[in-house]
Amino acid sequence: TTQTRYEAENAVCDGTIDSNHAGFSGTGFCNTTNATGSYVEWTVTVPAAGSYTLAFRYANGSTSGRRADVRIGGTATAQLDFPPTGAWTQWSTATTTATLPAGTSRIRVAALTSGGTANLDRLDL
Ligand code: GCU
Repeated sequence: TTQTRYEAENAVCDGTIDSNHAGFSGTGFCNTTNATGSYVEWTVTVPAAGSYTLAFRYANGSTSGRRADVRIGGTATAQLDFPPTGAWTQWSTATTTATLPAGTSRIRVAALTSGGTANLDRLDL
């Protein structure tokens, strides 16, 4: 299936778009505020209703998981652990599936810990 790439620097970033840790795609990544509830929110468009794999590219150079809710249009539908990647320059992918309606949806990754989210590079779906 064809994937669409949504860079975090084009999403709503509850923090700063940074470029100080190499390895990101596009022009940067979102470094959310270190607080519970801080988030990145993408607006995505799909042609048909159905189940989609959401692939979040991230880095977590801390020593603990940056667990987060995945919210679709405001409703939490999944949680992801975003475990440590070993360095802020080491990027990995966390995936989940979501049922989306045809058309546009808001997809938010919202931190469940006081560390905020991992640094988020992009969403592919
Ligand atoms: C460091 C790192 C940031 C990261 C932050 C965090 O400051 O340089 O990119 O976002 O830690 O703990 O979230």
